[in-house]
Amino acid sequence: MSTSKTNSYKIAVVPGDGIGKEVMQATLDVLNELDIDFEYIYGDAGDECLEKTGTALPKETLDIIRDSDACLFGAAGETAADVIVKIRQEMKMFANLRPVKAYPNTNSLFENIDFMIVRENTEGMYIADEESYTDEGAVARRIITREAERRIIDYAFQYAKNNNKSKVTAVHKANVLKKTDGLFREIFYEVAKEYPEIATEDFYVDATAMYLITQPESFEVIVTTNLFGDILSDEGAGLVGGLGLIPSANIGEDGALFEPVHGSAPDIAGQNKANPIAMMLSAIMMLRYLGENQAANIFEAAILKVLNDANILTGDLGGSATTAELTAEIKNNL
Ligand code: NAI
Ligand code: MG
Repeated sequence: MSTSKTNSYKIAVVPGDGIGKEVMQATLDVLNELDIDFEYIYGDAGDECLEKTGTALPKETLDIIRDSDACLFGAAGETAADVIVKIRQEMKMFANLRPVKAYPNTNSLFENIDFMIVRENTEGMYIADEESYTDEGAVARRIITREAERRIIDYAFQYAKNNNKSKVTAVHKANVLKKTDGLFREIFYEVAKEYPEIATEDFYVDATAMYLITQPESFEVIVTTNLFGDILSDEGAGLVGGLGLIPSANIGEDGALFEPVHGSAPDIAGQNKANPIAMMLSAIMMLRYLGENQAANIFEAAILKVLNDANILTGDLGGSATTAELTAEIKNNL
């Protein structure tokens, strides 16, 4: 490694609560070893922040994120909805990326899984526009706009192109939701014309739920609407086993945020037991987003080695190592 680091980035760091703080520190420890100059600007958010300041997400934290090249987020506790959902909305983070990848010596159900779920994050069912109960029942509206769906579908194809993926799969329920999902499917094939080198297919969401179990190795990039993406990405997490290994990204026009899928884990917080790999894989997604592919590959290889060796693993992976021991080993492997 050279002594003068080449590229530099301003990173908003929001550790949050519980193990969020522990896995964040572990991740920064490794990032600091890379040949990149990171300026960390810390932002407060979460349960402790609420107690201290009266708000779970201070305006200064939003400003720090807005002002950054990218944000690393740990986990919030009970205030998670007020924090992370609000940040996604405020920053108009329209794409939620959830990789589903099998790593060795984990509880993954299959070995050959490596696909990305690209989920629309701003509309669909989750506008949560529900009319209040009447005697007859309740009603929710589902919104699909050409603009938002074209944007997410284009993002999925761009992702495929930039990551050497050869196929994009659209997931919908256009046989029943003929107008909304019919439109989604129509736009998918419109956008696909701009990427003739990438193969396409589309499946109904119910069939996809089955194919994820029967032929998960056949998927490369899945693009889908908000609710379906939420459900399928948790199915994907189940496929590859264990919250301690699952990263995610939220990408918008004005910013991007990278976070593990897990929460603050109060049951193990403060005990040096948390698996930092989900946070580290989130940081690796950030590196790729910033165009730092070489650093991302080095970092990921160091994690792969620790999993392959299987000597130093945290409790959730069947080992007895501490967060600090696992982190030190990953640093050694760089
Ligand atoms: P959780 O993800 O915090 O924990 C679920 C289980 O997985 C626990 O047994 C925990 O010990 C284990 N676990 C999670 N991450 C782990 C890691 N890195 N290493 C080892 N074990 C790990 O979810 P839970 O228990 O439902 O929620 C706890 C708190 O976290 C709640 O207050 C919830 O609101 C919040 N939460 C926050 C999220 C966020 O900030 N994005 C997401 C999910 C929950
Ligand atoms: Mg979910």
